[in-house]
Amino acid sequence: MSNTDKYAVLGNPIEHSMSPLLHEFFAEKTSQDLTYGRILVETGTFEKTVRDFFKSGGRGCNVTVPCKLDAYKLADSLSDYAKAAGAVNTLKVMEDGSIYGDNTDGRGLVYDLKRLSCPLAGARILIIGAGGAAKGIMLPIINEDPKEIVIANRTVSKAQALASVYPQKVKGCGFDELEGSFDLIINASSSSLSGDVPPVKDEIIAGAKAVYDLMYSKTAKTAFTEKALSLNVQNVNDGFGMLIGQAILSFELWRGVKPDFDTAIKKFRPC
Ligand code: ATR
Repeated sequence: MSNTDKYAVLGNPIEHSMSPLLHEFFAEKTSQDLTYGRILVETGTFEKTVRDFFKSGGRGCNVTVPCKLDAYKLADSLSDYAKAAGAVNTLKVMEDGSIYGDNTDGRGLVYDLKRLSCPLAGARILIIGAGGAAKGIMLPIINEDPKEIVIANRTVSKAQALASVYPQKVKGCGFDELEGSFDLIINASSSSLSGDVPPVKDEIIAGAKAVYDLMYSKTAKTAFTEKALSLNVQNVNDGFGMLIGQAILSFELWRGVKPDFDTAIKKFRPC
């Protein structure tokens, strides 16, 4: 019988996911015997799909849009990061057969922000957007001890609700109310998906030391990073490093070995 362990990424759509390429590369580099596939989840079938996968020998999986909340509900136990995010991107079958849920997105982001010398400790940070992506990064960013975080969102009540979870450090507002300068601006809205730029005043973007869009693209450009570059911001990045970072942390949770970040980024984004 084969000893090869099975992993997969679950979501819908799923065919575009880079996770199989990343995890197969990590497995090769760390000499781990595993396969990693893609599983399309039809609406309303997440729980059955996961349980069938685990019954057939799956040891863990990544979970992507739109299933992260379903994974959160399915897990028997949760990391603090998953609890704070209210969402799970990594499931692991534990030795006793129970299912553990983690969220590695925010820690993947923080790893990348540090690698790129983006200001964090003591910084004034603007987060654009107040949906699931913003919620998922809050705790790891707060753990870096920024001076202040401002969340700006079209729907102001959502920004205020997310900010109220961390009342000492975080304020929520609309785009018109933004003032002062920010060390770091993170676009956690889904605006770049549709090629839009959130309505943040040019002077606010231009005043940032660093800009990071959680979205990524093959060309490393998004509508928001293009805007920041046009305003001469020096340190401008898309979310490709976050993708690698979150994958490394999932792999480490499953296998107990940590793939090397620099080797992976050189392989998948050589420019
Ligand atoms: P996710 O869970 O992936 O973050 P979401 O919950 O739908 O997705 O949230 C998307 C976020 O992007 C929201 O903050 C949304 O603003 P609203 O809450 O006001 O809808 C924001 N967003 C989407 N398109 C945007 C755009 N063109 N400009 C500004 N914000 C946008």
